[in-house]
Amino acid sequence: MKISAVKQLNNSSAQIIFLFEGEKSNITSIQKSLDNGFFKAKLSEVLPVTTDAHCYIAAGLGKQDKLTITGIRKTINAVFNQLKSLNITKVAVNAEKLGENATRVFVEALVNAAYKFDQLKEEKQTYVLEHVEIQSNHVEEAQKQIHLAQCIAQGQNYAKDLKNLPANICDTDYMLNEAKKLAQQNDKLNLHYLTEDDMHKLGMGCITAVGRGSSMPSYIACMEYFGGQKDQKPLVLVGKGMVYDTGGLCLKPWQGMGTMKMDMGGAAAVYGVMKAITDLKLPVNVIGAVALVENSIDGKSYRPGDVLKSMQGLSVEIGNTDAEGRLALCDTLTYIEKYNPEVVIDIATLTGAMVVSLGGGISGLFGNDDALVESLKTAAQKANDPAWHLPLFQDYHEMLKSEIADMNNIGGSAAGSITAALFLSRFTEKYRWAHLDTAGSAMGTFEKANATGRPVPLLVQYILDQIK
Ligand code: BES
Ligand code: ZN
Ligand code: ZN
Repeated sequence: MKISAVKQLNNSSAQIIFLFEGEKSNITSIQKSLDNGFFKAKLSEVLPVTTDAHCYIAAGLGKQDKLTITGIRKTINAVFNQLKSLNITKVAVNAEKLGENATRVFVEALVNAAYKFDQLKEEKQTYVLEHVEIQSNHVEEAQKQIHLAQCIAQGQNYAKDLKNLPANICDTDYMLNEAKKLAQQNDKLNLHYLTEDDMHKLGMGCITAVGRGSSMPSYIACMEYFGGQKDQKPLVLVGKGMVYDTGGLCLKPWQGMGTMKMDMGGAAAVYGVMKAITDLKLPVNVIGAVALVENSIDGKSYRPGDVLKSMQGLSVEIGNTDAEGRLALCDTLTYIEKYNPEVVIDIATLTGAMVVSLGGGISGLFGNDDALVESLKTAAQKANDPAWHLPLFQDYHEMLKSEIADMNNIGGSAAGSITAALFLSRFTEKYRWAHLDTAGSAMGTFEKANATGRPVPLLVQYILDQIK
């Protein structure tokens, strides 16, 4: 999709006309549809109107004082579907009515709306929206915003692809290979990865135990992007890449298992961010470290009651083999100390409790550094990718106590997302750290389980905000 900013819209393209409820249109044929009540400009209501010379797509935004970012996305989705059904390949728009950062909001929503996942179907969707013109009085600045929004949304769509692919295709080797591809495509990105042998040598008793029940090899893959000054300490992103989570011997009920191909959503978000920042050629140093593992069942599987030794030295008694994400992450979080990070942010579909507390719309945010948490909250707001700060309530460490080991991997039934975050916090004391629990937001459980590509926008915005 080519998207250009122009001073004057091209008359030959179909034109999207955004309208609020109750607003009048200076385009006669649209005003006629409003007058006779065929079109009321309700949110996500779309009407194609043709005259001898023009084609307009009237797009309702609903009541002006009620417009939200979700509303804008719904309308743009509806517009895209209309364009598709009419096979319109060139379109022009004035997006000003979308409010603050209109260009960026429009482009991000449109590229997301154009996302399709048909690679496993014989019949492919052939429709392509080829060219979009956006009217602006400041063409150069608008073009920059377009490029930024396109790179973010394409990173997001890449993350969606990885999540939508089932685990029989997107296994740990597939994920490793994707990291290799990213490195091949970019001079400044280097891939370094650990095999199970390497992990054993480093004393990673937790991540290796999780992967033992799987026929797939486990990896920790580190994508090292040095686009900034040599002496600048890197930001390290750590992603949970559980390519499938059966629950292990503490098997999940089948209803909860089908979506567990997306339990690598944290890793997928890291890949999406790496793609976006390399496409944007950002002058930053970022390491994307992903723990690629499968939690499955076998005679070799780790068991409830086992005691594992982490690389950091703490021993962990297994209360539940389904709390595997924190085990894969804890060794990875220790390993990445070697990068001497400025900041570490992990992203993980870590707890079902997150879906209960914040639902599919909001990521849970935890951290051991107030300024870092504030920066992430600001980035979430700017990127329209909501996150909510939850407490690392120290008293709850009590819940993770074990009689026979330094800690247990589960904290009981209450405050499940907090105890999971507290578990991780025992391994992140050496650096400024934040944790995003995306069990809800990565899968968009609000409507139905659906890969969202979140929190790619939040993370890219955070990185942009760090560039002085
Ligand atoms: N991958 C799941 C968390 C999850 C659940 C993500 C639902 C997305 C949707 C995680 O590994 C898990 O199973 N966590 C357990 C922890 C419990 C055993 C302490 C959970 O949340 O039930
Ligand atoms: Zn699990
Ligand atoms: Zn999991």
